[in-house]
Amino acid sequence: ARVDIDPSSYDAGDHESFMHKEILEQPAAAERVLRGRLDQRFATGHLGGLNLDARELREIKRIKVLGCGSAYYVGQMGATLIEELARIPADAEAASEFRYRNPIIEPDTLYVAVSQSGETLDTLLAVQEIRRKGGRTIGLVNVVGSAIAREVDGGIYLHAGPEVAVASTKALTNMYLGFAMLALQLGRVRDMSIADGRRLIGALEALPRKIEEIIATDDHLAGVAERLAEAESLFFVGRVRGFPVAREGAQKFKEISYRHAEAYQTSELKHGPLALISPAVPTIAIVPDDELVERNVAALHEIAARKGPLVVVTHDSVPLRGIKAERIVVPRSEVELDPILLTVPLQILAYHAARHLGHDIDKPRNLAKSVTVE
Ligand code: G6P
Repeated sequence: ARVDIDPSSYDAGDHESFMHKEILEQPAAAERVLRGRLDQRFATGHLGGLNLDARELREIKRIKVLGCGSAYYVGQMGATLIEELARIPADAEAASEFRYRNPIIEPDTLYVAVSQSGETLDTLLAVQEIRRKGGRTIGLVNVVGSAIAREVDGGIYLHAGPEVAVASTKALTNMYLGFAMLALQLGRVRDMSIADGRRLIGALEALPRKIEEIIATDDHLAGVAERLAEAESLFFVGRVRGFPVAREGAQKFKEISYRHAEAYQTSELKHGPLALISPAVPTIAIVPDDELVERNVAALHEIAARKGPLVVVTHDSVPLRGIKAERIVVPRSEVELDPILLTVPLQILAYHAARHLGHDIDKPRNLAKSVTVE
């Protein structure tokens, strides 16, 4: 497939930062990663670069996702998605830790390396360790011909275009969509029905416009971010599908606003951090309208009772039952695909918080876009 990248991608143009430009590029980037990869007739993914035929896809018994930083957190979203849709046990691990525990490499596990740059040394070394032990690897990589892309047995190029800001936005969104197509293809060689496949394809095709709708709420998000930027410490909470969203939200916030932001499972709040909730510590809660909504709303009551300021990233159908909270509403999708739509407003919050604080948004202190040392 031919992918046209606009040469102005390397130039921030009228934008005051690359991160802002890259946030706005997401709908177009999302369309590029999906293009030509959804098979309507058989309601499945069409990922030629995997180099795995239907029989080999069926033989996969486990999925292990490896990445660093944001790639690790989106990897956790992806593992959850694969487990849910394809019913294959899947989990994600920080690539930087993997090699150091003498990992067991299984012949029927598919190892998925996730990296925007394709040059992160920790991820590359994890891939090399797996290959040395005979494991099968694929990559979800943005930069064509990068070290990881050359090392893996197959993969999905992300076609996000050049990403310059350290904080990953459009590449991360496309990583998620790559996982969704992989989950669809793995599911459809197993028990996923044509009807379910069609339901997902429809939802995937609708995502770019929904991302655009979120981007259009920029003014509201900027106002919320400016208030959050005043706090020294924040919690980001979510559960199951929402937990990696919370982790990624906290990561973005701390990377560029330099505020202490900690992600927690909402269910674990009562087992410790509830002690820290106070008017000085805001909580950003991920509360999609899914099977956990009642429990999530109950946890919001616990936070409100301790006078913790609340920002709830949610759907308009979720009843907050009188809880005092700032609502950030995202469009509905199919529940399995909610995580990416819940993530986009968190990028925008982090961006505006950093901007309000006057930080260098594209080059946060002490961080590099790609870390090519151990
Ligand atoms: C660095 C960056 C992170 C990024 C991570 C993985 O630590 O600061 O923002 O998520 O590397 O980068 P990759 O290129 O492998 O996706």
